[in-house]
Amino acid sequence: MLVPQGEFELQRNPRDDNLQAWDAADEFLLNHLADIQVLSQHGRLLILNDAFGALAVALADHLVYSWNDSFLAQQALRNNLLANGYPVDQVRTNSGIDFPSVDVDCVLIKIPKTLALLEHQLYALRTILHHDTHIFAAGMARNIHNSTLELFESIIGPTTTTRAFKKSRLVLVERDHSINEGQSPYPDSYELVVDRLYRIRNHASLFSRDRLDPGSRLLLEHMPQDPRFRHIVDLGCGNGVLGLVAAALNPAASLLFSDESFMAIASAEANFRDAFAQAREAEFMVGDCLRGVPDASQDLVLINPPFHQQYSVGDAIAWRMFKDARRVLAAGGELRIVANRHLGYHAKLKKLFGNCETVTADSKFVILASIKN
Ligand SMILES: C[S@@+](CC[C@H](N)C(=O)[O-])C[C@H]1O[C@@H](n2cnc3c(N)ncnc32)[C@H](O)[C@@H]1O
Repeated sequence: MLVPQGEFELQRNPRDDNLQAWDAADEFLLNHLADIQVLSQHGRLLILNDAFGALAVALADHLVYSWNDSFLAQQALRNNLLANGYPVDQVRTNSGIDFPSVDVDCVLIKIPKTLALLEHQLYALRTILHHDTHIFAAGMARNIHNSTLELFESIIGPTTTTRAFKKSRLVLVERDHSINEGQSPYPDSYELVVDRLYRIRNHASLFSRDRLDPGSRLLLEHMPQDPRFRHIVDLGCGNGVLGLVAAALNPAASLLFSDESFMAIASAEANFRDAFAQAREAEFMVGDCLRGVPDASQDLVLINPPFHQQYSVGDAIAWRMFKDARRVLAAGGELRIVANRHLGYHAKLKKLFGNCETVTADSKFVILASIKN
C-alpha cells in the first residue's frame, strides 16, 4: 500500500495473495490525515475495526490502540507489523470486549457491516472522548447508508460526509457534548425453549443476534446424545446455543466453545454460566478454528459453519473448520454440522472422513454426520 505515510507490505489473514489487504477507504483516510496534519506525535490514537491492520501499521509511529472484535484481524495486524519492521506490541490491542480505558485524542473508525456493532461502539466511545478529540470514519460508499449517518448524528454529534474517492467515503463527526442520554442496548437477549428455557444474551456483533437461526434450530432438534461423549466442542460457537443444548443432553461432558469473535465468546460464556452456573466444566477460547487444541482429544464437534469471515465469502472457512474437527476428534468421535443444502458439504465430508450420513433435511437445511475412523 502506497500512502503519504510510506509504502507498506500487507497481507490478509488467512493469507490470500489474490486479494488486497486494504481498501480505498483506508487510502482515503490516510491521505486525509496527512493533508490536515491532525495527529500529534504524542497524542493517543484509537482505531476500530481495522480488518487487516492497514491503518494501524501505516500510523504505527504514533501511540496507537487498535480495537477489533476479530481475533483473525488482530493476528493480521501482528503479522503486518512484523512484516514492516515493527515489534508486535508496537500497537496495543484488546484481549477482551472492552475498549481501552484511556482518553483518546483521535478516533478512526472503519465502518463495520453490522450496524449494531457501530451503534455499540459509538456509545462506548462517548466515555473516552475529550473536548478536542477528532473522530473520522471511513467505509465503502455502498456500506454507508442514511441509517449509518443517523447513528453518528444521534449518538456523537454533527456529521458530514465527503465526496467519494474510488467508491469510498469519509464520515467527519464532531462531538456534541450536550448529547449524553441513551446507552448501548447491547448485549440484548431472547428466550429460547428447547429442553428447558434459556435466556440467550448476545453482544452487538453476533450472528443471528435477535432470534435463533433456523439452521441452528434444526441442529438443536437433532442433537446427539451418548454417555461416551466426554469432550464436546462447539466450533464457531457464536452465542453458544449448540453447546448449551449439547451440555444439557450429555451431562457427563465438558464443553469447549471456540470462536474468532471476542463478543461471541463473551456471550457464550455468559449464557453457559447463566444456564449451569459453575456446575459444569467448560472452556471458552477466542482463536482461529481449533488451533492449539490437542489432536484426538474430543468426542463430538458441532458446527454451523460461517459463510463469511471478515471480508472473505465462500466455503474456505468451513473446509478449514472440518479439517480441524477431524484432527481433534478421537477415533470413533463424531462431527455433526448443519448447512444450507445447496452448499454440497456432503461430498466434502465424505472425502475428508470417508463417510457421511444425512441425519435429516428440510427444504433449506441439512444435518450431516461423519465419524472419524
Ligand atoms: C453461522 S455462525 C454460527 C453461530 C452459532 N454456532 C449458531 O449456530 O448460532 C458462525 C460462527 O463462526 C465464527 N467464525 C468464523 N470464522 C471463524 C474461525 N476462523 N474460527 C472460529 N470461529 C470462526 C463466527 O464468528 C460465527 O460466530
